Amino acid sequence: MKLSTPHLLGIKDLLPQDIRLIIDTAKQFKEVLQRPIKKVPSLRDVTIVNLFFENSTRTRISFELAERRLSADVLNFTTSASSVSKGETMLDTVNNILSMKVDMVVLRHSASGAPHFLAKHISSAIVNAGDGTNEHPTQALLDAYSIEEATGSLQGKKIAIVGDIMHSRVALSNIHLLTKMGAEVTVAGPPTLIPKYLTEAFGVNVTYNLKEALQWCDVANVLRIQLERQNQPLFSSLREYNIAYGISRKLLDSLQKKIIIMHPGPINRGVELDSDVANGNESIILQQVENGVAVRMAVLYLLAGQLVN
Ligand code: NCD
Repeated sequence: MKLSTPHLLGIKDLLPQDIRLIIDTAKQFKEVLQRPIKKVPSLRDVTIVNLFFENSTRTRISFELAERRLSADVLNFTTSASSVSKGETMLDTVNNILSMKVDMVVLRHSASGAPHFLAKHISSAIVNAGDGTNEHPTQALLDAYSIEEATGSLQGKKIAIVGDIMHSRVALSNIHLLTKMGAEVTVAGPPTLIPKYLTEAFGVNVTYNLKEALQWCDVANVLRIQLERQNQPLFSSLREYNIAYGISRKLLDSLQKKIIIMHPGPINRGVELDSDVANGNESIILQQVENGVAVRMAVLYLLAGQLVN
């Protein structure tokens, strides 16, 4: 079985069978990760560079761990310690690195479309690790994996995506993935943080009422307010956001049903999620992080199988 694409630029470009193949392959890698010896030789002699032009904790470590578990040779690049600060363009940076014979590039960049631009100019396989406000495909894949693991399937599941939908690449990748795989999606948040065309473009439901969304859903995927991407105030204060859209224990208990709580991290405790909810038994937040390594192993393994030498 092969993926229909040589790169992972976004969920938008994937077919449902690509998503199925990645999730099923990740299940096998998760099983490998439970063994005493977690390393497999699948990517021996494959060189991967992690190019992070934007801050990251989980995603960077998760990719690096996935690469090392697959026995790839790994290079790490972060902007602050590089010649980018001397004025070099992204394409020059990447071409210099590639002339040292690198097979795959994992790219995080604050500009939407950066990995798509690179894919037009270089021959290595590219994995998008988050581009601006556009997509974060491996996050949506690990979210989908975690929903399936917790509930049995994606088909027919009701997923609420809560918070800053407008600036979130996690939201867009999740919407693409969940609608392709037959789940139902409702987005909930303040009107100023929800793009107007969502229903027409994607067939998702929109509500500005958090309790209504939680009452409806099986799973709530809760997002961080992306203050760094908002150049004008879109709500009055974080405190008021918490009152209207934060998830507290009291609110969860008032639903009189059990829902699953997810969050891609980093959590702003006391803003979108109260601590006792983030740490509570509805939360699968740390399982998401654990599953991220297996999902990224699957993506790298499948793309490496298509490398032209
Ligand atoms: C997300 C991101 O960077 O897009 N985090 C992540 O990769 N786990 C979400 C966020 O920053 O809020």
